[in-house]
Amino acid sequence: MHNRLYNKKVLITAGPTKEAIDPVRYISNHSSGKMGYAIAEKFLESGAQVFLVSGPVKISLHHPKLKIIKVNSASEMYLACCHYFEEVDIAVFAAAVADYRPEKIEERRSKKDESHFTIKMKRNIDIAYEFGQIKTHKQIAVGFALETNDELKHAIGKLSEKNFDMVVLNSVNDQGAIFGHDSNKITIVKDDFSKKEFPLKGKSEVARDIVNEVEATIAMHEKYQPEESVLDYETMYR
Ligand code: PMT
Repeated sequence: MHNRLYNKKVLITAGPTKEAIDPVRYISNHSSGKMGYAIAEKFLESGAQVFLVSGPVKISLHHPKLKIIKVNSASEMYLACCHYFEEVDIAVFAAAVADYRPEKIEERRSKKDESHFTIKMKRNIDIAYEFGQIKTHKQIAVGFALETNDELKHAIGKLSEKNFDMVVLNSVNDQGAIFGHDSNKITIVKDDFSKKEFPLKGKSEVARDIVNEVEATIAMHEKYQPEESVLDYETMYR
């Protein structure tokens, strides 16, 4: 079969972000980075060029066609991604980005003599949403959704809100799946609202399924938006 991913440029976010409270404390999300890194590996195996913007994780990956950009906070992750937004063919948002950060980073470690203290939080920029705003019809965006309830409803909401071509839904209710584990159980929902459920598998196999779905989406795009368009609007309306 014709390999549609060869030399395609792919941006992937992976892992958690860490939002500093003071020089020693931070707020973060659960994520080992395993899912995002497994997706990077599968794209590399298909001959794609990968830009992996990674939060702090304990995984290492090397490949001549891989560039890893290591970041800590959501703001750093966004700035790193912005650099690649325009040039990539595919963007996969697998990171567990912290939705909020402390409004002010304390210069000194906060005291622990109070029984309660309050941290004022500020909304972080939504990286996937920002990409969705400028995405062209030739670019493909893949989002993840991690839900505790009404999974499908929330996944469909994210599809349209963030202009994703597909959402990979993983539920925290699935045993043996999600962060830290070596396996995941996913449902892929596409922008035509088609739904494909997959059994519990190793993250490497899950990544293969996701990459196959991206390739199938590219094939669909090629069918309905041929490279050499027969419509030449300038000539038509002259
Ligand atoms: O790293 P592992 O241990 O292997 O675990 C993998 C995972 C469970 C973290 C991963 O599969 C996953 O589901 N990542 C998304 C988790 C999530 O909570 O997503 P969300 O519902 O907050 O966000 C929806 C989408 O928007 C995601 O694609 C997310 O990357 C993106 N997003 C969210 C917020 C933000 N500020 N910027 C974003 O880009």
